[in-house]
Amino acid sequence: MSPMFVPGPVDVAPEVLAAQARPMMPHRSKEFETLFQRTAEKAQKLFYTQNRIFQGTASGSGMQEAGVRNFVQDTVLACVNGAFAERWYDVAVANGKQADRLEVEWGKAVTPDLLEDALRKKHYEAVTIVHNETSTGVQNPVQELAAVVQELSPDTLVLVDAVSSLGGVKIEMDAWGIDFLLTSSQKCLALPPGLSLASASDRAMQKAETVKNRGWYFDLLRMEKHRLKDSTPMTPAMPLIYALDVQLDRIFVEGLEERFARHAAMAARVQAWALERGMPLVAAEGYRSNTVTAIHNERGFPVAELNKFLFQRGMRIANGYGGLKEVSFRIAHMGELQLSDIDTLLSAMDEFLA
Ligand SMILES: Cc1ncc(COP(=O)(O)O)c(C=O)c1O
Repeated sequence: MSPMFVPGPVDVAPEVLAAQARPMMPHRSKEFETLFQRTAEKAQKLFYTQNRIFQGTASGSGMQEAGVRNFVQDTVLACVNGAFAERWYDVAVANGKQADRLEVEWGKAVTPDLLEDALRKKHYEAVTIVHNETSTGVQNPVQELAAVVQELSPDTLVLVDAVSSLGGVKIEMDAWGIDFLLTSSQKCLALPPGLSLASASDRAMQKAETVKNRGWYFDLLRMEKHRLKDSTPMTPAMPLIYALDVQLDRIFVEGLEERFARHAAMAARVQAWALERGMPLVAAEGYRSNTVTAIHNERGFPVAELNKFLFQRGMRIANGYGGLKEVSFRIAHMGELQLSDIDTLLSAMDEFLA
C-alpha cells in the first residue's frame, strides 16, 4: 500500500476493503437490523454520546445539508474561517435559510470572544462550526464555543462538522453539549467514501418537529422513524456498513486514546519539520489540527514537482486549498498512517528540498 498523505479519501486497510465484498442481504431483514444496531452502538462510543446515530448514504456534505434543513427554520450563524465552513454557509443559503456569517481570517480560529460578540447582537436558532478546517489545518475550540452558546443563548443549537477529525481527535458530543455532530467515512475513520455518520440530541430532534420543509431524503425525522426499528428509510450503502463494522472493531482494538495520541504525535512531527525548515504553518499557534497540516510554501518550489517526486516513491500529498492553492501545500496525518510513514515522507521531502 502506498501511503496517501491527503485529507481524504485516505488509504483503507485491506481487510476493511475486503469486508465490502461480502454478499449483500435485504435491508428489510433481521440480519441487516442486527448489523445496523451493532454499528450504531459502536459509533456511539466514537462520538462519546448516548444519542442516536444516523448512517447516511451520502458523503459528509449531505449531513451538512441535513443539519441546516432539519434544525433551522430561519436564522443560523455560520462561523466561517475556511473553505468547508464557507460551504456550510452556502448550503444554508441554498436551502433558503437566513444565514449570517461570523467571519474570521483563514488560518485563524473562531474564538469564544468573537462568538460571544455575535450572539450578543442577535438571536439564532443554530450556530454552525467546523471543528477541523481541512483547508487551513485549523482546529476550532468547539468545547469552548459550545460553552459560550450554552451560556449566552441556551436554546441555540450547536451544529458541528467533524468531517476531517472525528475518529482522530477526541470530540465529546454529550459532555460538550453538541446538538448535531457529523462526519464522513473517508477521512480519520479510514473507510472508503460514500457514507456519513451523524448524531443528534433529543432537543435537536424536538426542534426538527417544528421545522417546515425539511426535505425528503435528509429528513431526519423520517430517518429516526426507521432508525428506531434499526433500519433506514432508503436502501443503505450496505458494503460501506460492512466495512464500518470491521473498521470500528479495528479502531477499538487500537484503543481510542491510543488512536488520538497517534494522530497528535504525527501532527507534532510534521509541524516541527516544517517550522525547522523555515516554512510557516497556515494555522495559528494553539489551534493547529492533529489530522492535517497546511504549510506555507515559503521556499516557492512547484508543489506539482514535489508531488511527482513523491509519487515515484509511492506517496502523495495535497495542494493548498482554494485561495491557498498556489502558496501552500497540505500534509494529512490521519486514518491508518503511522509515525514511520510520516518519517518516510519527511525524509523524501528533505531529499526533494535538497
Ligand atoms: C471539514 C470538511 N467538511 C466537509 C467536507 C465535505 O465532505 P464530503 O466530501 O464528505 O462531502 C470536507 C471534505 O473534505 C471537509 O474537510
